[in-house]
Amino acid sequence: MKKIGVGIIGGGLMGREMASAFARWCALMDVEVQPELVAVADLVEDVRNWFRRIPSCVQITGNYHELLANPAVEVVYVAVPHNLHEKIYCDVLAAGKDLFAEKPFGIDLDSARRIADAATISGRFVRCSSEFPFLPGAQRVMQHVNQGKLGRILEVVAAFHHSSDLDASKPANWKRKSATCGEIGVLGDLGMHACHIPLRLGWRPQRLFAQLQKGYPQRPDGKGGMADCDTWDNALLSCWTQIGGHQVPLRFEMKRMAPGETNTWYIEVLGTEGGVRYSTKEPKTLWLFENGKEQFWKKTDLGFGMPFKTVTGGIFEPGFPDMIQQMWAAFLMEREGLLAGRCGCATVEEAVATQEIFAAALASHVQGVVMAL
Ligand SMILES: NC(=O)c1ccc[n+]([C@@H]2O[C@H](COP(=O)([O-])OP(=O)(O)OC[C@H]3O[C@@H](n4cnc5c(N)ncnc54)[C@H](O)[C@@H]3O)[C@@H](O)[C@H]2O)c1
Repeated sequence: MKKIGVGIIGGGLMGREMASAFARWCALMDVEVQPELVAVADLVEDVRNWFRRIPSCVQITGNYHELLANPAVEVVYVAVPHNLHEKIYCDVLAAGKDLFAEKPFGIDLDSARRIADAATISGRFVRCSSEFPFLPGAQRVMQHVNQGKLGRILEVVAAFHHSSDLDASKPANWKRKSATCGEIGVLGDLGMHACHIPLRLGWRPQRLFAQLQKGYPQRPDGKGGMADCDTWDNALLSCWTQIGGHQVPLRFEMKRMAPGETNTWYIEVLGTEGGVRYSTKEPKTLWLFENGKEQFWKKTDLGFGMPFKTVTGGIFEPGFPDMIQQMWAAFLMEREGLLAGRCGCATVEEAVATQEIFAAALASHVQGVVMAL
């Protein structure tokens, strides 16, 4: 396999997840490229120290500019708070590196558009992280739709639900503050995951009405006091989209306060002839609707039907680390021009389109009106 030198800026939750996906790259059977983590930059020493367990990661620094000056780094993955996206993404591009960005691709729509302009000017390969489309269930939903098996599509629901914010004792972090997470709050946190497949299928909202809710106004600050939390925690977006010449209701749900849900990603597409439904709540199970004299919801257990073949047995269940690894395989293979019709990562245009949805949702909620996009 051709080795690609990768640097990570921001070695927190997602930085470590990506590094561990690289560490078991031998699981992949049909990729011609291999990421090699050569450098990490994080402000926090304890965070940096975790990366010492990775032998190839020889540059460990608190200053990301040093990482960008390293000629061994070809691709940079950036996982930092949203207020830092624009500056760091643009610095990566100015340094002549390819960029694997994190969502929401800037703190707001203007920021996303400036990053997109910088990406165009740089000519570098840029994609945005969104891993759920790489699950077998999500792949099958897209296949089903693309095969035209559903007849006239009647409605679409795409959702991503968490519940950890129901715990009032959970300390505040940067994701609960507009200054660092963005005024879009949960939309920026979970929105890409809900929007990506509808956007990939060409289903852009044309009009939307949003209902946004806040969670607890204060949380423990982790130092014995309390900190203000001002971000939106739940968002319901009722949209109209155009599918096959018809106006179709499309509902997005992004929630950080959804009782009982840990990381439930869900999509349902219903049509006159058929329907398809998949949820990570039942990670093995694909539901298919069959119309006829009698109507059926059929279910089947999916195995390890990943876009990129692995050593894992075909009947085994995939999980979060698997889709992260598949997403990286797609990023690196597309960068080499070897995607061969498989699903690619979220594009710059898709990332900007999500921010257009989020900006319209904020305006809709504040003004209490339907917004046209
Ligand atoms: N794709 C997904 O499923 C997913 C899941 C969670 C978070 N995210 C996204 O990943 C990004 C990071 O989120 P996280 O949960 O990993 O956050 P995190 O707080 O766990 O990690 C962020 C890290 O960035 C570091 N950092 C801050 N400023 C820095 C700087 N100037 N230079 C270098 N390092 C710096 C912090 O020290 C911290 O370790 C966000 O954009 C978030 O939306 C994506």
